[in-house]
Amino acid sequence: MIDNNRLLKPNRKLAKSARIKNMCEYQALQDEAIEDYEGFWGRFAKEKLDWIEPFNNVVDESNFPFVKWFDGGKLNVSSQCIDRHLKDKKNRASIIFEGDRGDKQIITYLELYYNVNRFANLLKEDFGIKKGDRVVIYMPMIPESAYAMLACARIGAIHSIVFGGFSAEALRDRIIDADASLVITADGAYRKGKPYMLKPVVDNALADGSCVKKVLVVERNNEDIDWVSGRDYSYNELIKEKAPTCEPEVMDSEDPLFLLYTSGSTGKPKGVQHNSAGYILWAQMTMEWVFDVKEDDTYWCTADIGWITGHTYIVYGPLAMGATTVMFEGVPTYPDAGRPWKMVEEYKINQFYTAPTAIRVLHKMGEDEPSKYDLSSLKVLGTVGEPIDPPAWKWYYEEVGDSKCAIVDTYWQTETGGHIVSPLPYATPIKPSCATLPLPGIMAEILDTDGDRVEVGEKGLMCVTRPWPSMIRGVWGDKDRFVKSYFGDVKKDGKAVYFTGDGALYDENGYITITGRTDDVINVSGHRMGTAEIESAIKKCDKVAEVAVVGRPHSIKGESIFAYIVMKGDDTLATEVELIKEINGYIKSEIGNIAICDEMAFVSGLPKTRSGKIMRRILRAIAKNEEITQDISTLEDPTVVEKINNIVNG
Ligand code: WT7
Repeated sequence: MIDNNRLLKPNRKLAKSARIKNMCEYQALQDEAIEDYEGFWGRFAKEKLDWIEPFNNVVDESNFPFVKWFDGGKLNVSSQCIDRHLKDKKNRASIIFEGDRGDKQIITYLELYYNVNRFANLLKEDFGIKKGDRVVIYMPMIPESAYAMLACARIGAIHSIVFGGFSAEALRDRIIDADASLVITADGAYRKGKPYMLKPVVDNALADGSCVKKVLVVERNNEDIDWVSGRDYSYNELIKEKAPTCEPEVMDSEDPLFLLYTSGSTGKPKGVQHNSAGYILWAQMTMEWVFDVKEDDTYWCTADIGWITGHTYIVYGPLAMGATTVMFEGVPTYPDAGRPWKMVEEYKINQFYTAPTAIRVLHKMGEDEPSKYDLSSLKVLGTVGEPIDPPAWKWYYEEVGDSKCAIVDTYWQTETGGHIVSPLPYATPIKPSCATLPLPGIMAEILDTDGDRVEVGEKGLMCVTRPWPSMIRGVWGDKDRFVKSYFGDVKKDGKAVYFTGDGALYDENGYITITGRTDDVINVSGHRMGTAEIESAIKKCDKVAEVAVVGRPHSIKGESIFAYIVMKGDDTLATEVELIKEINGYIKSEIGNIAICDEMAFVSGLPKTRSGKIMRRILRAIAKNEEITQDISTLEDPTVVEKINNIVNG
């Protein structure tokens, strides 16, 4: 039996050959960073990266929070990920691809080199893409998506991947915000044995004219699609003509590498900007430290490239360190909930990285499936995206990991570029559902609103008190929003610090447990969603007068979306089912299926202060069926609370 508070020691035998072998080594690294921050980062930047020209400065904080890392240095991220491995591992598998229907492809580093170079030549020659241009990638999980990312990096174009589950409207917004000139997409791909389509979504997104004049289409499932002549081009045709080598563009350390849109608590999604050197350095270092991937290992992260996890831990991190990374097109429960374990057995996967929501689904749908396969190759199991609950953790640890693999509960965000709080698999004693300690070099601390470190067991704000190489460099096109969103809430010793938006607490070992968002961002199946965006989608429905959206705990998804809706008319109840369908229709077309509301409560009014502010805390409590501890006497109309409670919980 696992005691939730007892620490589980790492595997001593495997620790012998680990990069960080014990807590003394961890502490020595962290002390080195504390004592000489620039020395620490400068040392690793020299050790880990191949510089075309060396940097002058480790970090320049003179314009904080706009910081520069490794200023003056020149490099190319695609060369970091490919060219430098050709010397000694040209025949090593870079990407192992498995399709939804079981089709397989192994791409060596040399093949990756040629494929990416051809792709880069295609972008340059046929579409005129140059350094600094924005390219939107709306793709399924196929190797060409990784080639597209790396081809952009090779020629200095800035990619912006939009997750394939987003709607045409959401895609259009992101294209416009980034002022992109090209979209790379696929006809579609396969899910649960059947084709699904992406290209028609791109057609819709571009329907009313756009900054995008050209679309490059990878033909993956060969279903019928419309081709707009002069706009749409077949990758499969054009790529045949392209030369297999392309000189990498010489990039500054601080040249942008990519944008990735993510939700905040207000307004439209933010284009989180990551730059070249700092990002790729930390992607590689965390791959090495947190997963401890060895020369012959095979590593699999089940994320989608549309999220930051797919960027850092399917493509950039693994390839920067020269590892073998598995890419999977399908879903974990098709054809059955043994699929991932079958793949672990077949490819002899050594590190497996997934989200708590997937673990809960696999647990629920296939509790005994892991025992049917040989999972003895596994050494490290990872989780990411949301707090993992103890029952899911226990099943993962015991049934998947056979009680011998470390579980690395990695805490980070789109904005942090890579992990910031996580166990090290062969050093850190772990406990269920705990992200444990800041990684060496990361000055992560839980502070109160005055900037003081909180006491053990007291909930506070998860902050990072010094800039680090892979931190967000900006919100695309909106400097103010960058400063306000991340550096506006907490000051330590009079200086603004980075606030993640998450709450957290320390235990008596100094271990960090993340308790969840403190803002109006909800986390549904590991997907981050702003309640403001969902509300504005719902408001597109004419019949809706007012709406407030909150998260409600959900056994599989972590959180589900709960909407309180005030209709304009009062004949709503008779047609509730239709209304739900209609309103979810708006969400589908404005954002995508991922934002569909599980529950809607049609109410006569929302709890508001006299100044008109909606009291979401009360709505959250009602959604959870918790006692309302807040003073409601100051509300504009205190009786609405009871009315709503009766509708929801009565
Ligand atoms: C938010 C970031 C990081 C890649 C995937 C999501 C939550 C992330 C953990 C964890 C508890 C976690 C936080 C964070 N989160 N990892 N190990 N334990 N919560 O990236 O979409 O930027 O979301 O996910 O709330 O702020 P994202």
